Amino acid sequence: MENKKRIYSAVQPSGMLTLGNYLGAIRNFPLLQEEYDCLYCVANMHTLTVRQDPELLRERIYALLALYLACGLDPEKNILYLQSQVPAHAELSWVLGCYTYMGELSRMTQFKDKSSRHADNINAGLFTYPVLMAADILLYQTDFVPIGRDQKQHLELARDIAIRFNKLYGDTFKVPEPLISKQGAKIMSLQEPNKKMSKSDENVNNFILITEDPDKIMKKFKKAVTDSDGEIRYDEENKPGVSNLINIYGALKNLSTEEVEKAFSGLRYGDFKTAVGEACVETLTPIRARYEELMADKGYLDGIFKENAVRAGAYAEKTLKDVYAKVGFVL
Ligand code: TYM
Repeated sequence: MENKKRIYSAVQPSGMLTLGNYLGAIRNFPLLQEEYDCLYCVANMHTLTVRQDPELLRERIYALLALYLACGLDPEKNILYLQSQVPAHAELSWVLGCYTYMGELSRMTQFKDKSSRHADNINAGLFTYPVLMAADILLYQTDFVPIGRDQKQHLELARDIAIRFNKLYGDTFKVPEPLISKQGAKIMSLQEPNKKMSKSDENVNNFILITEDPDKIMKKFKKAVTDSDGEIRYDEENKPGVSNLINIYGALKNLSTEEVEKAFSGLRYGDFKTAVGEACVETLTPIRARYEELMADKGYLDGIFKENAVRAGAYAEKTLKDVYAKVGFVL
């Protein structure tokens, strides 16, 4: 395992996961497990930047691990762990915060977006969130980070922090590269296709959950916003709704945009929406069944967390010690 390149990614258990999380990130994770040394984190510490209900958060933490497994991640081949069970994340985050500038953090689009949506709770954690994300990645000497397009800016900041620290103290962190899939990297909302599909959206018709039941999935796709010109053609700017559906179908069926356009040319929107809904149900149904089995056995999920906190902690401690020594702390 040691000489393989390392992959690191994380998902926040801030809501049930959406088709966007699946197509943009999680479905790519199992494809990497043979070739790379992979760590996938349940990023629960990040969720506190927005108010959470404690009981619901606990449930969603298990749900995310269950989904990782249900989507095909093998707990023997990957380190699947819970962020708060590895204290080095919070510790490195403090240090890196002292090497990150206010100006850099204020330029983060996610900060600007979330602070406008939660104007009554613009807390310091929301502002420093990308530093914790940098700590997550840099602790593990990560080579590649599979993410959706919305996380690219955060990853660039993590790179900048790593480069800055390495310049000051000598090689300490590997500088990570993003892995962004061509298709599915930005799945948009079904009702408002100019914004991304998000698990924290208030309008449930905007997203499809990975665990959603088939009837609801079909209904939501049938209601998806399109346009009035009636042509199934990719044009992100003028036809964002139809383009999003083309993108979703292509990602689900592994077809290029042109192939999808060709397959549906001349068909009506209604028939196309049904086909997209059916493709989605077909992909998600087995995942949902496995997810439900796993959620019925919290003891098994706890066991995975416990064991993997130790495995992840061993990697993380090594980097943290090196950082502490480099900045001049007594170990
Ligand atoms: P999060 O939890 O918002 O999303 C998890 C992953 O799903 C991708 N994603 C999408 N992809 C395509 N279309 C969408 N509509 C869509 N919505 C979300 C995200 O890009 C992400 O890859 N800050 C991160 C979690 C995190 C992390 C990390 C990621 C914490 N530490 C370290 C990588 C490495 C986040 O909030 O993702």
